[in-house]
Amino acid sequence: MSEHYIHGFSDAERLRLIEQAEMLANPVFGGLDFSDDHNLLEVGCAVGAELHLIARRAPHLALTGLDLSAVHLRAGRAWLAERECIRLVQGDARALPFPDDSFDVGMTIWLLEHVGDAAAVVRELLRVVKPTGRVILTEVDNSTFGFDPPQPAITAWWDAFNRCQAEVGGGDPFVGHTLRGIAASLGAEVLAEEPRLVITSSDATRNRADQLRYLRELLASGAERMLAHGYATAHMAQAMAAAFDAVQAEPGVAFRYGAVRLLCRRPRQRPESDAAPRSAG
Ligand SMILES: C[S@@+](CC[C@H](N)C(=O)[O-])C[C@H]1O[C@@H](n2cnc3c(N)ncnc32)[C@H](O)[C@@H]1O
Repeated sequence: MSEHYIHGFSDAERLRLIEQAEMLANPVFGGLDFSDDHNLLEVGCAVGAELHLIARRAPHLALTGLDLSAVHLRAGRAWLAERECIRLVQGDARALPFPDDSFDVGMTIWLLEHVGDAAAVVRELLRVVKPTGRVILTEVDNSTFGFDPPQPAITAWWDAFNRCQAEVGGGDPFVGHTLRGIAASLGAEVLAEEPRLVITSSDATRNRADQLRYLRELLASGAERMLAHGYATAHMAQAMAAAFDAVQAEPGVAFRYGAVRLLCRRPRQRPESDAAPRSAG
């Protein structure tokens, strides 16, 4: 995966993930209540940025993070060293190294867009989460990203970013809108499906410059892979950067970026009394 993963594993990416987790904490965690849970697994935890936030919000939880990247996990272990309640494990989300019924909560945050077989990950989460627990998937739908009025240089870069992520990385940048179908195909019970506006210029309580800086860094994080694989040029990168400068200087330009949060669990076993009566004899 490493040379194809769109964001890469640089120190700049580690810092971007930590800033991203803080910036998007409300859309990701708002409305979630962990007070009755004892343990939680985040699959695709990277450097542990989300686990760090969860530990602050719900210090009673025993936390486990799993990621394929040894580089990210090493950075995460160094950063989270003082938090003994967080265990970081290397592994593949499609074949989790945990027994059935191990966790109260299983989460993905910005993972499934990078995995060719998202259903395999959700199947594994449903297996390792207790029947009374829940699986929480918070995932992008990159078709929701946009500016009003349109910004062609940013759109051209974003389209190339998505093509590179899908064709080189083998992921699905639009996975958010497929979550319900994936859960249904696995027989899971959907508890909630919520659109989450992760970035929006229409929320006056959120800092416009910070949100734009976040979007700009997100798009720039794909530059190395996009240039290496011929999906973008240095000229496109300059035009994209100039367009962000222009949007920053013009408060009338609106922007948005959305995700989907799906909560599901294993289908409940039918109680004995509901089962079809056995034929006599
Ligand atoms: C965008 S990062 C998300 C990190 C984290 N959830 C957060 O919000 O900060 C995606 C992570 O998924 C990991 N990843 C990709 N494919 C994986 C797989 N098959 N199994 C486990 N981790 C995987 C990458 O190594 C990367 O760390």
